Amino acid sequence: MEHDSYKEFDPQIERRVEDLLAQMTLAEKVMQMTQININHHGRDELEARIRHGAGSLLNMYGAEILNEFQKMALEESRLGIPLLVGNDVIHGYRTIFPIPLAWSCTWEPDLVEEGAHIAAEEAAVDGTNWIFAPMVDICRDARWGRIAEGAGEDPFLGQAMAGALVRGFQTPLADGRHIVACPKHYAAYGAAEDGRDYNTVDISERSLRDVYLPPFKAAFDAGAGTVMSSFNEIAGVPASINKFLLTQVLRDEMNFTGLVVSDWNALGELIDHGVAPDLREAARRAALSGVDMDMVSDAYHDHLQSLIEEGAVPEAVVDEAVRRILRLKFALGLFENPYGDTEQTEATFLQPPFREKALEMARKSMVLLKNEAPSSQSATVLPLDAGEVMRLALIGPLADDRREILGCWHRIGRWQDSESVYEVLKKSMPNTEITLVQGCSLEGDDISGFEEALAAAIAADAVVMVLGEAEAMSGEAHSRAYLGLPGRQEELLYAVAAAGKPLIAVLMCGRPLVIPWLAENTAAILLAWHGGIRTGGAVADLLLGKANPSGKLTASWPRALGQVPIYYAHKNSGRPADGPGTSQFDMAHRTRFIDEATEPLFPFGYGLSYTTFAYSDLQVTPPRDLQGTLRVTAVVTNTGAMAGDEIAQLYVRDLVGEVTRPVKELKGFQKVFLAPGESKQIAFEVPVQELGFHGLDLTYKVEPGDFHLWLGPDSSQGLEGAFTL
Ligand code: NOJ
Repeated sequence: MEHDSYKEFDPQIERRVEDLLAQMTLAEKVMQMTQININHHGRDELEARIRHGAGSLLNMYGAEILNEFQKMALEESRLGIPLLVGNDVIHGYRTIFPIPLAWSCTWEPDLVEEGAHIAAEEAAVDGTNWIFAPMVDICRDARWGRIAEGAGEDPFLGQAMAGALVRGFQTPLADGRHIVACPKHYAAYGAAEDGRDYNTVDISERSLRDVYLPPFKAAFDAGAGTVMSSFNEIAGVPASINKFLLTQVLRDEMNFTGLVVSDWNALGELIDHGVAPDLREAARRAALSGVDMDMVSDAYHDHLQSLIEEGAVPEAVVDEAVRRILRLKFALGLFENPYGDTEQTEATFLQPPFREKALEMARKSMVLLKNEAPSSQSATVLPLDAGEVMRLALIGPLADDRREILGCWHRIGRWQDSESVYEVLKKSMPNTEITLVQGCSLEGDDISGFEEALAAAIAADAVVMVLGEAEAMSGEAHSRAYLGLPGRQEELLYAVAAAGKPLIAVLMCGRPLVIPWLAENTAAILLAWHGGIRTGGAVADLLLGKANPSGKLTASWPRALGQVPIYYAHKNSGRPADGPGTSQFDMAHRTRFIDEATEPLFPFGYGLSYTTFAYSDLQVTPPRDLQGTLRVTAVVTNTGAMAGDEIAQLYVRDLVGEVTRPVKELKGFQKVFLAPGESKQIAFEVPVQELGFHGLDLTYKVEPGDFHLWLGPDSSQGLEGAFTL
């Protein structure tokens, strides 16, 4: 589908922008650069500002009220400029999809794009024209609650998802409306020290450029019309006054022509950062650094006009910012129709194909982490055979939950639209007696249900435990210092394990957890995440084998909290953990822990299926020169008895560089569907220019030399090859 790109300038729009700009007073220009919110400013002040030509509203939902405000802007402000209405539509609007960390595990950008488009469809009809997403922050620290909102730890996958999401949001809508996306948080917000939200970021410019910026670039290349500057500082300079980031990198290098909005009160927080003594200085520094719109802090509203009048900020800076804002409003068609459609909202929300897409997305997001045969003779414990299981014990605080599963940014999504695992299993297993026992609450110390849980397990043919996090344990401002199962859930596991039955765990969470005991002592683990309104249906389908798990992890799962941050694309170091030498000295003096392995519990890219896949016939055709393409092919065979999707992954290592290089980097992935016994050839074409990095002088370069590559099922294994550039 053709999607809107806000990169190109339309001469007709440019003329309209200049005409309007020429009519604006300085006060009106500053108002356009101001973004307001009803809870923050109060209704009276909000309305007064709309009448004075405020540029944008945020975090307000509902066509009825938004239409009132748009009408006010059009009819009661002097120049009749419509409002940008920005909202957080992170994983669906009314049809709530799995959290983004989960949907990235589909490794299916096209599917994610469709989900984003559905979200845009629902948001637009309800009056939103600006979506504060995709969240494209790379994160390698599961303590950070906002890991839930992004695509995980890898820049290559992050780029694919960022582009897909922008296209999905910005594809023109059925009724002719348009939406603009806002990749965030620019930049490196996911690199917060100790995973604590809003905390200091102090990374090298090389990491910034190699790891954290590429998804933004992909979002801009896809035509994203806006970007949000982040809360954090980077090496001493908060993002919202970071001229290097906001001007040099963003404008001069990435050629971004769109609008920069600050994050919520990020300009006010410059005072707390200690880089401005007051809001006035904050306004001056932000305006000069490249922030076009101030989200609620009122730094611009209160001070920008007088700063210009005194000559502390050139008026040209404001003119340029207002041009960007007006250009976007024209391009979105808001001057013609800024209204949501109150008549159509109910008919648009939760349409059957949307609910179906949510189910597909949930199924494909879920990751089978473990599936063992309980004894050497029997088959794997999953899928359950509904005809064989006469009595099922369904245990755990999330087994009959319809609220927590929605996920951290469900906003106007409703729990009434969702389905619990218990509800769906009851329908799907009509001949099975299902005993539902909560066992304990998600948090807190109540263990009064333990005995009942044990009794149910003893009486059952199969035991499924649905455990995990509340939705509010991840997302913004919800970092955790402990990554185990909260409350008494792990003890519930111990209690139920006493029944001696093979345990099947379903995990619902917003981040990688630290679950060594669970991983060791269960027979099967299905990672369901917070899967949105269709979580229950997807879990039931996967447990019963009506669908075959295909999701693969996009963030490494640590064995122990002390391993965090953990990611597959680490550097080798001078003393690698698996380095050479066998002497006691060699063995001891490596980059390792004395009390824990260095490898993750489940690596990036990992996920099982109810079938098995084999890789063979690796062929590597080296590129002809630095402008050429690396070609890699292999054959994947479904060696099991069930049809399934395999996500094949290509990793490359640049063996010697002028600066150190990661031990592996994802450079390609493909999802391939195979019937039992079927083989298919898969082929990857990697432009050599994608094998580069930022060298000693921090420019991007591709160095000739030797490379290794791996093609296989995850980041820890695969067929091995090599080539020379
Ligand atoms: C703060 C969050 O960091 C950002 O992601 C969000 O878009 C804004 N608030 C607006 O709600």
